[in-house]
Amino acid sequence: MAEVQDLFKKVIAHSKEYGFVYQSSEIYDGLAGTYDYGPLGVELKNNIKTYWWKSMVQMHDNIVGLDAAIFMHPTTWKASGHVDAFNDPLVDSKGSNKRYRADVLVEEYVAKIEAKINKQVKKGIKRFGEDFDEAKFRATDGRAVQYAEKMKSIEARLGKALTDNDMGALKDLIVELEIADPVSGSKEWTDVRQFNLMFSTQLGNIAGTEGKLYLRPETAQGIFVNFLNVQKSMRQKLPFGIAQIGKAFRNEIIARQFIFRMREFEQMEMQFFVKPGTEMKWYEAWKETRMKWHLALGTPQEKLRFHDHDALAHYANAAADIQFDFPFGFKELEGIHSRTDFDLKQHEEFSGKKLQFFDPATNENYVPYVVETSIGADRMFLAILSNSFTEEEVPNAKGGVATRTVLKLHPVLAPIKCAVLPLLKNKPELVAKAKTILNQLKFDFPCQYDEKDAIGRRYRRQDAIGTPFCITIDFDTLEDDTVTIRDRDTLEQTRIKISEIASVVKEKISWRTVLGQ
Ligand code: GAP
Repeated sequence: MAEVQDLFKKVIAHSKEYGFVYQSSEIYDGLAGTYDYGPLGVELKNNIKTYWWKSMVQMHDNIVGLDAAIFMHPTTWKASGHVDAFNDPLVDSKGSNKRYRADVLVEEYVAKIEAKINKQVKKGIKRFGEDFDEAKFRATDGRAVQYAEKMKSIEARLGKALTDNDMGALKDLIVELEIADPVSGSKEWTDVRQFNLMFSTQLGNIAGTEGKLYLRPETAQGIFVNFLNVQKSMRQKLPFGIAQIGKAFRNEIIARQFIFRMREFEQMEMQFFVKPGTEMKWYEAWKETRMKWHLALGTPQEKLRFHDHDALAHYANAAADIQFDFPFGFKELEGIHSRTDFDLKQHEEFSGKKLQFFDPATNENYVPYVVETSIGADRMFLAILSNSFTEEEVPNAKGGVATRTVLKLHPVLAPIKCAVLPLLKNKPELVAKAKTILNQLKFDFPCQYDEKDAIGRRYRRQDAIGTPFCITIDFDTLEDDTVTIRDRDTLEQTRIKISEIASVVKEKISWRTVLGQ
């Protein structure tokens, strides 16, 4: 656990040191739950968004894009259910006056039981060695079985309390499990109550509640209200999808774990409109497609898993998360939801406008069903950063070993694709040649020029930001127009012609390497 916390701290410190992510308004001691992306962070985040956009929109004939306004007519949020039901259960500790999400307190309790099971399994591995059968052990070991049953029963009670909106049952669960305030250790809790997560503001020219506006808590509603506009203007037939990337805002009770849970964040959402009755087929298909999207970046399968929801949101008839093994454990990275016809029907009712599709095959009008895929760009950023952060030993120039920190980012995501390094900065002919090469390469991809410090230290700086290639210009370059190209992962250095650099780099950073897998 300490090791894991250590990794998380290192990732956060690395992000700041190398210009990926800073605390927002840091000079004023920061604003909780908000972060700023630095020069390399914005490149990495843009690459993540480009990967999503290309694979969802460009690679699908029947998915089109949208960029809807953040502010929407306030009735939108009444219709969608957010005004009445977009709540988190809130509980205050009487010991520290700190606020917690009641469901998260219970989930953390369950995670501790899961850790105990894993400890039992580790003991089993030690005891039985090569003959160890993990599945059998989990099903038969007395303690492991007891823990698993306890977990299941707590999860079922939590799910029921949330589905029934029964805050009393949630409080009873916390008291029964003797959950203590992590800050003060107190077991004295207030009643659990619902807390609406939407931020509100006011239109300048209308006084009172009529002018009350909300900052959108999800991008999806901008898609629903534009369903007919897009379908008609783009002449789409079912099934078809609308994709959008944009900011969302939630007044999270506890915004923590760095960019995992923020109050202002960015979502990448796609609503796929289908014929009623076919939604489960599409739900399964999108689960598979989205998992492949993550795996194509080289994220190991064991760090990704599905988690089916026990408690369904008010609009869904099936829902699953893709969870990622963050430095603080498996947590939701993306949601795939079968949202039925709930949203379109609600908007029909509240707006008085029909939001239906005329099916020429059956000569009928109907409200389509919707399967949604929704992923946070910031959460994806954290998953990518923590998965790629590596400390390893590598051979040094003197035949010994050195430790390097390297971001093993997939080359399509790397903020800088290629560093151009003159061997010596005090040799004007090397510097001039390096700059000529740089000025050509920067038409094709983002490059960085660096002449400061010994070449080894410059390589380390590029490793730390995940640059896949370093090009070194030395005296041979002046003779024969060749350079050394160093591969970030293999550390191999080969000599190639200047005219070959762009194609070698382009092959590795091509979107073809990750799209259509
Ligand atoms: N339209 C459906 C929807 O918004 P959600 O599960 O509430 O579903 C979807 O959110 C995704 O948005 C999550 O899987 C997560 O990646 C991201 N997300 C949600 N709340 C977030 C927050 N406070 N900070 C960062 N990302 C968040």
